[in-house]
Amino acid sequence: MTAPVYALRDGNSIPALGLGTYGLDDKAGVAAIVDAIDEGYRLIDTAYNYGNEGVVAEAVRRSPVDRSDLMITTKLPGRHHGFDETFASFEQSRSRLDLDWVDLYLIHWPNPRIDKYVDSWRAMIKLLERGVVRSIGVSNFTEPMLQRLIDETGVVPVVNQVELHPYFPQAPLRAFHAELGIRTESWSPLAKRSELLAEPVVTGLAAGLGVTPAQLVLRWHVELGTVPIPKSADAARRRENLDVFGFSLAPEHVEAISSLERGRLWGGDPDTHEEM
Ligand SMILES: NC(=O)c1ccc[n+]([C@@H]2O[C@H](COP(=O)([O-])OP(=O)(O)OC[C@H]3O[C@@H](n4cnc5c(N)ncnc54)[C@H](OP(=O)(O)O)[C@@H]3O)[C@@H](O)[C@H]2O)c1
Repeated sequence: MTAPVYALRDGNSIPALGLGTYGLDDKAGVAAIVDAIDEGYRLIDTAYNYGNEGVVAEAVRRSPVDRSDLMITTKLPGRHHGFDETFASFEQSRSRLDLDWVDLYLIHWPNPRIDKYVDSWRAMIKLLERGVVRSIGVSNFTEPMLQRLIDETGVVPVVNQVELHPYFPQAPLRAFHAELGIRTESWSPLAKRSELLAEPVVTGLAAGLGVTPAQLVLRWHVELGTVPIPKSADAARRRENLDVFGFSLAPEHVEAISSLERGRLWGGDPDTHEEM
């Protein structure tokens, strides 16, 4: 089973659900990613800072699935912000990933205090023109930061990957993305499992539909039109996570899940949080 896809505003497409890989960084990680591709995952999310681009590369080499059927995402780290620095960082990522092209390249965090994300964005536009990147986007950008990129370069990111789960549904940012045709990707879509999967509203609705709590939450993302990238090292849980396209949620159920809103998991406010 593979996930359906959405069209991106640049004409490319993105699977409606992908695999997070943070922590899949050793031999077992290679095996987990090879298996995930075999199970039907086509969107693989890594980052320079996860230290596992080489693990993803090994999995892609070992998988019988054609590389052109995969969408590999990686991300520019904060310490490499700047025009020239972005080209150098990208080449390191591409070489570790052992790929001719990267499907989706994101600015990992905006780090507004160092104020160089627009310079990086200009470099990413060049990478796109050179054909070594197929789509460019951002991660952890706020509405004013997105607006600034667009005002200063005229190029709209195709994706903004942000913290998003029932504890932090990000309704205002999603509405802004919808106006601009930016696809929202959800990181920590299961709220890192935490207590979310034991919330009575989640367990109750899941039992009523005959699905697991994780499936209910991932389907909530699908109903919102966001792309969740759950990470699991376990084959049964990965299969479960991908199997969310055979049922749907009523609008009142989507509302009930969204009403769990209480805020971010850990102070990852892009205005102040920095990742280098
Ligand atoms: N752009 C950014 O700044 C940013 C920040 C954070 C994360 N990310 C990306 O988002 C991905 C996902 O986020 P995340 O890893 O933080 O959190 P997550 O996907 O919300 O949760 C992962 C946790 O949930 C467990 N899990 C997975 N499926 C489950 C299921 N069906 N039932 C019960 N437990 C389940 C996993 O354990 P097992 O592995 O044991 O199954 C793991 O402990 C990351 O891997 C990374 O690629 C991006």
